[in-house]
Amino acid sequence: MSTVAPSPAPPDVDAAAQADAEAAFRDANPAFGSTAIIDELRRTEYRRLDARGDVYLDYTGGSLYAESQLEHHLRLVRDGVYGNPHSVNPTSSASTALVERARAAVLRHFNAPPGEYVCIFTPNATGALRLVGEAYPFGPLDRFLATCDNHNSVNGIREFARARGARTAYVPLDTPDLRVTDATLERHLDAGVMARHGLFAYPAQSNFSGVKHPLEWIAPAHDQGWDVLLDCAAFAPTSRLDLATWNPDFVAISFYKMFGYPTGLGALLARVRTLDRLRRPWFAGGSVVAATVQSDTVAPRSGHAGFEDGTVDYLGIPAVEIGLCHLERIGVDTISRRVEALGTWLLEALQRLRHSGGAPATRIYGPATGDRRGARDALTFLHPDGRVVDERFVDLLAAAHNISVRTGCFCNPGAGEAAFALSKERMLGVELSEGMSFDDYIERLGMPTGGAVRVSLGLASNFADVYRFISFANEFRDLADVPPGLPPRVGC
Ligand SMILES: Cc1ncc(COP(=O)(O)O)c(C=O)c1O
Repeated sequence: MSTVAPSPAPPDVDAAAQADAEAAFRDANPAFGSTAIIDELRRTEYRRLDARGDVYLDYTGGSLYAESQLEHHLRLVRDGVYGNPHSVNPTSSASTALVERARAAVLRHFNAPPGEYVCIFTPNATGALRLVGEAYPFGPLDRFLATCDNHNSVNGIREFARARGARTAYVPLDTPDLRVTDATLERHLDAGVMARHGLFAYPAQSNFSGVKHPLEWIAPAHDQGWDVLLDCAAFAPTSRLDLATWNPDFVAISFYKMFGYPTGLGALLARVRTLDRLRRPWFAGGSVVAATVQSDTVAPRSGHAGFEDGTVDYLGIPAVEIGLCHLERIGVDTISRRVEALGTWLLEALQRLRHSGGAPATRIYGPATGDRRGARDALTFLHPDGRVVDERFVDLLAAAHNISVRTGCFCNPGAGEAAFALSKERMLGVELSEGMSFDDYIERLGMPTGGAVRVSLGLASNFADVYRFISFANEFRDLADVPPGLPPRVGC
């Protein structure tokens, strides 16, 4: 039997039923007890969640910060005097020391072998991906290969590649699992030997389906001559990436997705020997040793400095080290174990949800089990006659329950196209032309709705969060229709 007190139930949830469900869940998942530190933190560092009655289930959108992170950072900036780091005076040196400490902490967190990787601070994962895209030495003999499952911030790299004459290709997903089969991947990687340079980009974890694409792809991709860009924005918050074991050439992350605060900071972790091959399209203050005007010369700085334009966020960056300490105090493995147990319970409960006539009330996109999958579900609710419940109604109802989930396509059109079985033929000829609303566009595509509902767990998730979502999901049982007058969709 569990010895941990069940999480409090809000007034609209049957407290006794929740306590019974939590006890049964804990009995079935004895290892969950080893994550009790997070229950404790929910009562202290994250007490605002229960105080406000918020059910936060959008950790892939952004994680949540602990109170102590804010207090520690506030103390640091309140008690110190920090100047622009582009100087050598005492206050400038104080800033530089903090920035370099944070840089070392990031590399330590990812266990990067000394001297093999650099950490380049960027505004977010998108900024990191853009740095690679714009500086990768694409030319007419080169290739850009990406999985269909990718965030738009990776998809956008194809524009840099095409503008310089490189060929681009996508690795398709298998349905319904939304994974890539080994044979499909091999076929696409084989093309790498024909290229002078080739960049292969994929997410270590899908922000749509939660599928964890194998890190084991990195070595065969290297063997076929590809440089590997690993998007870890959705992976790093709940999984450990060990750069002493895996050696992708580039890794993109956003810190607010890992520990909630600060926003506006991410990083590109780059393998030194691959970084040396990048050619930046411009230079700026901070990234050059010297530039002349009359003789038109420029000498870029080497390493991370050559990729950090202007003044870095020298007051924000120290909060990254504080956030990493917080994450490590909890333990990424603890978070991983916890969200896996809660995620599997959630997945199974959603799969069991039926209308009174026996028809399924949900459709889950992606694998049917929690195996090699992060703790997030992309789903749609179904009416008893099998039609998809409009995700805008789900949004409205969730907000009324103080539940935060994400709806839409999550900036991952390729995974969405595979999930909703949108073929290329169906999309060809249906363009989002000037003046056409997004609602008209999806209607012309013949899509049943504008996207899915994403429920994602993270470092402060507890049983009560998933239980409340399931109680909420029960409201879709036997729902014959949604009310008219839903707000227009603005985009995907
Ligand atoms: C897998 C993945 N890659 C990239 C991004 C872009 O991150 P950001 O908006 O922080 O730049 C996201 C954001 O949700 C993501 O989930």
